Amino acid sequence: NNTYTLLDSGYFKKLENVGGQVMVRPCPQACWAPSLAKQDWNKAKDTYIRSNKGGGKWKFNSLPEQWDIVYHGQKMILRPTNFGHLGVFAEAASNWQWLKDMSKPEIKALNMFAYTGGSSLAMSKGGAQVTHLDAAKGIVDWARLNAEANDISNIRWIVDDVNRFLDREIRRGNKYDALVMDPPSYGRGSKGEIWKIEDDIMPFLERCKAVMSDKPAFILFTCHTPHFTPKVLDNLIYTVWGEDLTTESGEMTIPQESSKRTIPSGFYTRVTFP
Ligand SMILES: C[S@@+](CC[C@H](N)C(=O)[O-])C[C@H]1O[C@@H](n2cnc3c(N)ncnc32)[C@H](O)[C@@H]1O
Repeated sequence: NNTYTLLDSGYFKKLENVGGQVMVRPCPQACWAPSLAKQDWNKAKDTYIRSNKGGGKWKFNSLPEQWDIVYHGQKMILRPTNFGHLGVFAEAASNWQWLKDMSKPEIKALNMFAYTGGSSLAMSKGGAQVTHLDAAKGIVDWARLNAEANDISNIRWIVDDVNRFLDREIRRGNKYDALVMDPPSYGRGSKGEIWKIEDDIMPFLERCKAVMSDKPAFILFTCHTPHFTPKVLDNLIYTVWGEDLTTESGEMTIPQESSKRTIPSGFYTRVTFP
C-alpha cells in the first residue's frame, strides 16, 4: 500500500490512495459520475477543498506532515501543501520510463521547472548527467531529499529564474544534449520575475535552442495549460528547431483502478533527433 492509486473520479473530484492515506481532492476535468459507491468515497479521511476565491484548504487533516511512496520505481517524499498538491503529479510518471530509457552516461540533461525532481531522478537512474533547475528554494530542497531517498548524489542543483539561468549558460557557452521542461501557465522566478506562458514560451524556447549541443539527444516538453495541446507543443518545437526531428505527442493521463476511465492531465511531446 505504499504507492499511489487513483481509486475513482467523478463530480469534479478524485478519490486517491496515496501510500495508505485515502483522500479526496478537486479534479475539474472529472465532469462524469463516479463509478464507486458513496460508502467508498466516505472512507477518505482527508479532503482538500478549493475555495471559489482561489486557493483552498485541507479539511479533517489526519495526514502526516511527511510520508513517502514508491511510485514507478522511485521513492518520492510527500507533504500536503497549501495548494492541495503533495509533491508528485501522478501523470508525470508516464514519462519517467521514457526519460530513463533515453538517458546515457554521455548525455548532459537540463530539467527546467523541475519541481520535486521525478524526471531528474529518472534521467539520473538512466545514467545521464543531470542539472535540475527550479525557482523555488524550498522545492529544490525537497527534490534533493528525493534524490537522497533514491541514493542519487550526482545531480547539479540550481535555484534560479529559468530565463536568467539560460541567458547565463548562453554567455558561458555551456551546452546540454537533452532538455526537459514543464512550464506552468503562470509562475514566479527566484527574484519575482513573472512567467506567463503565452508571452514567454517562444523566447524561452529560443533560449533553449541556444543552449542545446550540436549532438541533441532528446526533448521532453510537457504542459498543463488548457490550450497547449499536443499539436501546439509540436508546432512550437517545429518553429524553433525546424522539422528535421521526430515528435511523439499525446495526452498525459492517470489510470483509474475502478474503471476504464483515465483522468486527462496535460499534454506531452517527446522529441528525438536524427
Ligand atoms: C512543475 S511546473 C508546473 C507544475 C504542475 N505541472 C502544475 O500544473 O501545477 C511548476 C514549477 O515551476 C517553477 N517555476 C515557476 N516559474 C519559474 C521560473 N520563472 N523559473 C524557474 N522555475 C519556475 C515553480 O517553482 C514550480 O516548481
